[in-house]
Amino acid sequence: MATIPIEVETASRNPRNVKLERWVEEVAQMCKPDRVHWCDGSPAEYQTMLRLLVLTGTAIPLDPAKRPNSYLVRSDPADVARVEDQTFICSRTKEDAGPTNNWEDPAKMKQKLAGLFAGSMVGRTMFVVPYSMGPIGSPISKIGVEITDSAYVVVSMHIMSRVGSHVLDVLGENGEFVRGLHSVGAPLGANQPDATWRCNKEHKYICHFPETREIWSFGSGYGGNALLGKKCHALRIASVQARDEGWMAEHMLILKLISPSGQAKYMTGAFPSACGKTNLSMMIPTLPGWKVEAIGDDIAWMKFGADGRLYAINPEFGFFGVAPGTSMKSNANAMLSVTRNSIFTNCAMTMDGDVWWEGMTEETPAKLIDWLRRPWTPNSGRKAAHPNSRFTFAATQCPVIAPEWEDPKGVPIDAILFGGRRAGIVPLITEAFNWQHGTFLGATVSSETTAAITGKVGLLRRDPMAMLPFCGYHMGDYFAHWLRMGTHSSASKLPKIFYVNWFRQDKSGNYLWPGYGENSRVLKWIFERCDGKVHANETPIGRIPEVADLDTTGLDIKGAHVDELLSIDLEGWLAEVPLIKEHFAHFGSHLPEDFNFEVEALEARLLAARP
Ligand code: GTP
Ligand code: SPV
Ligand code: MN
Repeated sequence: MATIPIEVETASRNPRNVKLERWVEEVAQMCKPDRVHWCDGSPAEYQTMLRLLVLTGTAIPLDPAKRPNSYLVRSDPADVARVEDQTFICSRTKEDAGPTNNWEDPAKMKQKLAGLFAGSMVGRTMFVVPYSMGPIGSPISKIGVEITDSAYVVVSMHIMSRVGSHVLDVLGENGEFVRGLHSVGAPLGANQPDATWRCNKEHKYICHFPETREIWSFGSGYGGNALLGKKCHALRIASVQARDEGWMAEHMLILKLISPSGQAKYMTGAFPSACGKTNLSMMIPTLPGWKVEAIGDDIAWMKFGADGRLYAINPEFGFFGVAPGTSMKSNANAMLSVTRNSIFTNCAMTMDGDVWWEGMTEETPAKLIDWLRRPWTPNSGRKAAHPNSRFTFAATQCPVIAPEWEDPKGVPIDAILFGGRRAGIVPLITEAFNWQHGTFLGATVSSETTAAITGKVGLLRRDPMAMLPFCGYHMGDYFAHWLRMGTHSSASKLPKIFYVNWFRQDKSGNYLWPGYGENSRVLKWIFERCDGKVHANETPIGRIPEVADLDTTGLDIKGAHVDELLSIDLEGWLAEVPLIKEHFAHFGSHLPEDFNFEVEALEARLLAARP
């Protein structure tokens, strides 16, 4: 199919940023697109891009009577998730990238990439996407520009970030911005048939140059690999800026919990990919009178205010959530958010032009088109939707978005939660003794891998602060940064830190805790702990509620389960200690000495508690 000519006028650019214009020119010289389009972020532009995606067969409009203004996109099976083994931090030295990142010398990597990007946009349109991460004008916000040859990326960026000409106004003549260069690496030769999903099957590189605040992403058009404002900018590059400037860029949801008496507290939560952030951020509490409002579901940027409290903003503008498992029962607010104006990627399609995924309905449809465009029935013996299939919707569509979600000064954080998927050992909830102990708990988080990344699912790995794939510098220095942040304020003003685990299992692999809205019972305890109003037991691993401290009225699981969820397996924890030491040993001289102290103290407390 020939490329479709589209509008190419540049947005009215005044004032003009010479650095930006020069960079766009250089990239065009290298990538050789047929045309360059400066995105203005308008609704008309969004519709034009979607028409283009429909014409090329990339997107299918869903039945407008069922889901108005919504589309299904199916990717290539070779491009379905973040590619961590092809993600690089190209800092000046390998030491700066640390032991948890792939590293390559910046000059060498640029040379390799220049070869790949040369002519990579032939036959394509090159889009220039100016965006703001964070409310425009907030002192915490940052500007980026993504150059991409993917219209799917453009529409996704429209939803996920604040895109448009007004960003260029804020940028001004001399403003600094993060440069994100993206190509799917699939130039189109004359008379060559186009693919419905374009990517490069041989080469994928997601590269970050932290010192020069640059991102070069080649070969993938999916999610965090391609929407450069998200993981690449708002976490990997921003974590380096945050270290340099004294703030925090974290893989965290932000929620507001409102008590029956109308009191509100703000919490953030760092859980690894596909471990429950979106769900928790907009959950419907089963506890009567309690309410959750969402502020963000994936990323938090946090800075101390003049009052000594830690304030968080959500740098994103939309949600890119895991579809499978989402239902009116598990996450009604997400279901209500995607009733219109949404993009679905790698979900299954129903015979009447709607989308479906595993867990969406109690009854499985008798016939579907699976995400690979094949006819599907419940007897097909495979999943109809890809396990990492996702929906994209603007935050404003969430029925419980907090009214203050775009407050430029952010919201003051009362509690920080860490968590992961652990079948055993880790209790439902633990409160840290203090900031340092909480930082230590965050640094030891381990979780089973999920479909959000390519590779094996279910492997247990350490994922400190859920930042393993997203920290743009040496993880040992990142730990030190966390500890340093804790010295910025007095203990009473710092958020309290908690460690949660919704994923404990019994011997036959069933979850011991019902999760989702029932997690409100744990949030309530956290809320009341922040006010010092509810009891906790001091244990060797931290403060833990007794069964009686947790509100279990109406909870539909056996008392024995709650006992088990709140119990401490002393021998299991003693066996964990050498594993934590082994984990910490990777960080060598960069590991804060305070962490050695914490692990020794943990071991001593566990030994002292042995009967
Ligand atoms: P990313 O977008 O990859 O960062 O994921 P996330 O952390 O936002 O995870 P999300 O909320 O999308 O949940 C991922 C999967 O975990 C979904 O299939 C959910 O249904 C499931 N899940 C979420 N919360 C719970 C819970 O409390 N208990 C159980 N058992 N499963 C949950
Ligand atoms: C994650 O993997 O943590 C995600 C999805 O939030 S992606 O945007 O693809 O990184
Ligand atoms: Mn995420």
